[in-house]
Amino acid sequence: MDISKVAVLGAGTMGAGIAQVCAQVGCSVTLFDIDDASAERGLAGIDRFLAKGVARGKVTEEVKAETLARIAASSDQDAAVTGVDLVIEAAPESLKLKREIFTRVAAKAPAHAILATNTSSLPISQIAEGNDAAGRIVGMHFFNPVPLMKLLELVVGNETAPATTDAVRAFGMRLGKEVITVRDAPGFASSRLGICIAMEAIRMVEEGVASPEDIDRAMIFGYGHPMGPLKLTDLVGCDVRLAIADHLADSLDAPHFTPPALLRQMVADGRLGKKSGQGFYSWE
Ligand SMILES: NC(=O)c1ccc[n+]([C@@H]2O[C@H](COP(=O)([O-])OP(=O)(O)OC[C@H]3O[C@@H](n4cnc5c(N)ncnc54)[C@H](O)[C@@H]3O)[C@@H](O)[C@H]2O)c1
Repeated sequence: MDISKVAVLGAGTMGAGIAQVCAQVGCSVTLFDIDDASAERGLAGIDRFLAKGVARGKVTEEVKAETLARIAASSDQDAAVTGVDLVIEAAPESLKLKREIFTRVAAKAPAHAILATNTSSLPISQIAEGNDAAGRIVGMHFFNPVPLMKLLELVVGNETAPATTDAVRAFGMRLGKEVITVRDAPGFASSRLGICIAMEAIRMVEEGVASPEDIDRAMIFGYGHPMGPLKLTDLVGCDVRLAIADHLADSLDAPHFTPPALLRQMVADGRLGKKSGQGFYSWE
């Protein structure tokens, strides 16, 4: 399937990055958000990201201009999905919201369009449940920052058609991503592994086994991880990781996903990581 027109729904951290990588491979992209200011903010973020790339000599001025010219900001969801080949939803992580979005998109997007969600933890099969387009609904789980992170995790729902998975796999490879395919199991592959390591690292801080710095250094220098699990938790957000850990603890009968009291306390105190200035590290 030839994908040339893409709509990205949600112009936040992930949506902006997804719109950028799609435009960089030549797609014409509509970046939708609930109001003009949010959609324009997403577009401005892409401009800034590409400008940094130009300053570092990674992107030419010409590529930057061409990429930006392919992206249009919009606050009209129905118009955004009209005539597209692929919709990628990157709205907030709420099952109710995503189900509503997919119902409306299924009614307005062309009958051939693939409808993907960038959810990091919600079951694809529940997002697609009762949707007439369930065979065309699939998970495309990108990583932050999207233009730099190589992984694309495809999540195959109970009703996702093989042709849908094949088409998004080909598109992911066109984006230059390393594509993995996983069943619609809680936490998929990436979050389940990442959360497991992070919860254990936090338990070790709680028990005074070692400092956050040394626990992170264990994974960096002993296992070749580019970043330790505690710094990564600060970057992702302690609240975000707590929510995913709670979800996994509920869905999988495995005690190692139970969030340590320390994490719960940090979130209650507003120590959310980089975004609040304080987490396992100080970010001031
Ligand atoms: N941040 C990450 O590291 C990360 C990584 C992988 C996946 N995800 C997933 O990507 C999705 C988006 O996360 P994010 O970090 O970009 O969030 P974000 O808060 O940065 O952006 C979400 C955007 O969606 C917009 N929005 C609100 N209601 C909407 C609607 N009805 N339709 C369309 N857009 C709407 C918001 O205005 C906001 O701009 C979530 O499902 C999240 O779990 C996030």
